[in-house]
Amino acid sequence: MELSANNIMIFTNGSNKNIPIIFVHGFPYDHTMWEKTVDALKDNYYCVTYDIRGLGQSPTGSGQYTIESFVDDLETIIDELKLKKPVLCGLSMGGYISLRAVERMEEKFAAVILCDTKPEADDNITKLKRAAGVKLLYENGAEEFIRAFVKNCFGTKYSEAQKSEYMKIEDYFAKGSPVAVSGCLIAMAARTDTTEALGKIKIPTLVICGEDDRLTPPAIMKQMAEKIKEAKFVLIPDAGHMTPIENPVEFNKAVTEFLEDL
Ligand code: MLT
Repeated sequence: MELSANNIMIFTNGSNKNIPIIFVHGFPYDHTMWEKTVDALKDNYYCVTYDIRGLGQSPTGSGQYTIESFVDDLETIIDELKLKKPVLCGLSMGGYISLRAVERMEEKFAAVILCDTKPEADDNITKLKRAAGVKLLYENGAEEFIRAFVKNCFGTKYSEAQKSEYMKIEDYFAKGSPVAVSGCLIAMAARTDTTEALGKIKIPTLVICGEDDRLTPPAIMKQMAEKIKEAKFVLIPDAGHMTPIENPVEFNKAVTEFLEDL
């Protein structure tokens, strides 16, 4: 574990002689959402996870974020760790960051894995939902908002069948900083649309979606994959939006097979 020059908590696993993979977590999670992925990959790859500004162990700072500033943070980490052409793997908000990073600096990456995410910017209904979230966070703190949000991310197969594991996750993330969580909501509401950039992606791309993902459903993600030349689409059974946690066996299989083909 180390603190980067830009005050971001970074965690590395495996030998830095191996191919690097940098993982960008979703909202309002932190690097721990990749634990089972890193366990499966660390013997053969150099796995870098980090906590997005204000989430997990990374300090909140001003609480004023943009997806662009999150991409700046990602670039700083890559440069600071001297990662040579890492594979980029992002889930949901991490996918928004990854899509913009590929649009802005594709040459820095060997390949990209886009999990449970989409290229479209928020529509008006979603922007208003984000605004209601910001209000709730300001008035009531983080817990109520985060518990409801996290519940919606997981498929009922996981949250009901593995209730104690699920509750541990909800309890852990419910302690997030309301200022940082608000900052992320505003950043997501203000993000650019990366749909136009999909057709220009030249690096190998894997698109992963949980079959019960309610936030970025399979039909939307399939459309995204079809816009990327040579992208591979994998549907993960028995999983909602949080595929690496909900079905790590199938998630890790999809990622490993993709990496072995590079
Ligand atoms: C995430 O998992 O990062 C969020 O669902 C993204 C979003 O709210 O758009």
